[in-house]
Amino acid sequence: MKILVTGGLGFIGSHTVVELQNKGFEVLIVDNLSNADEKVLEGITAITGKTPIFEKFDLREKAKVQDFFGRHSDLTGVIHFAASKAVGESVEKPLLYYENNLGVLTYILQELIKKDEAHFIFSSSCTVYGQADNMPITEDAPVKPAESPYGNTKQVGEEIICDTCKVNSNLAAISLRYFNPIGAHPSTAIGELPIGVPQNLVPFITQTGIGMREQLSVFGDDYPTPDGTCVRDYIHVVDLAKAHVKALQRLIQNENQSNYEVFNLGTGTGSSVFEVIQSFERVSGKKLNYKIVDRRLGDVTEAYADTTKANTILGWKANSTLDDAMKSAWDWEQKIRKPRS
Ligand code: UD1
Repeated sequence: MKILVTGGLGFIGSHTVVELQNKGFEVLIVDNLSNADEKVLEGITAITGKTPIFEKFDLREKAKVQDFFGRHSDLTGVIHFAASKAVGESVEKPLLYYENNLGVLTYILQELIKKDEAHFIFSSSCTVYGQADNMPITEDAPVKPAESPYGNTKQVGEEIICDTCKVNSNLAAISLRYFNPIGAHPSTAIGELPIGVPQNLVPFITQTGIGMREQLSVFGDDYPTPDGTCVRDYIHVVDLAKAHVKALQRLIQNENQSNYEVFNLGTGTGSSVFEVIQSFERVSGKKLNYKIVDRRLGDVTEAYADTTKANTILGWKANSTLDDAMKSAWDWEQKIRKPRS
């Protein structure tokens, strides 16, 4: 079965391509390489022994999207990762985010609804919950007003898919709300490749550990949490990737309860920034240089998933601990910074 993975050379996309190929799916990747490197294809091949088909183009070019679907009329499903994801940049360039994250989504859905049967998996985010009133967060928790255009694209993206499913029974879709994906493939053949200064905590920590950055800034230690730092649900990217395969299989096998479903993808355990730093120090044997600074605008105090729905209905569970994921992130950082011989 042929699956299109948009953004398949990115961080979560590449790990998902590996899991799809491991399960025997034939994968086609479309990626514009705006935040990915073509060399990732070699990493995927090294792990799976198979090179996915790769087409480089920008999905904002509607004619190219139409042409692609015309040439690949035998596609079984689409997993849609291609999107912009920097919260701060989205505030500066809202139209870029709306065009890239929502315009493209409508182009793909317009092609899918032409098919007799279509399966679609969407990368959503726990950001849709904002600061949820209760922890852990269930899928029934209300969607709160978005803090940024990026967050808004995830909320509106879900609504676009839900509305489209209502009137197109040939389309079945699942939105996966990721908590905080971290780590790398245990082979160290693929991992996260942030461009410039990382905005996310774990790549900033590993780059500080390796000496690329002098010091981590911890954004606030006066939150109403046990140690005063923010709490998040850090999930190993390989666990997350496996959930995409489960979700796709659920649709292909017609096991879904309605033609639009939503699942949280997290571990169910919250970890504070200090706990993440301690995990890094444990797995690396290094002391991390950090200082406490002011809170970062827009950060919520805590967010961790209730995973009951994913565990029982999707039949998926995150297996890796924070230390497992951190160790893989650290192994990856050491590998990519090693001078090539
Ligand atoms: C962020 C986005 C979220 C998005 C996700 C995508 C915000 C407010 N949220 O999640 O919408 O889906 O990235 O990757 O931007 N921290 C530090 N120092 C740092 C970096 C982070 O202390 O240098 C802290 C943050 O305050 C936070 C935690 O580490 O408490 C995790 O931060 P991060 O990795 O950026 O993820 P989120 O903010 O949860």
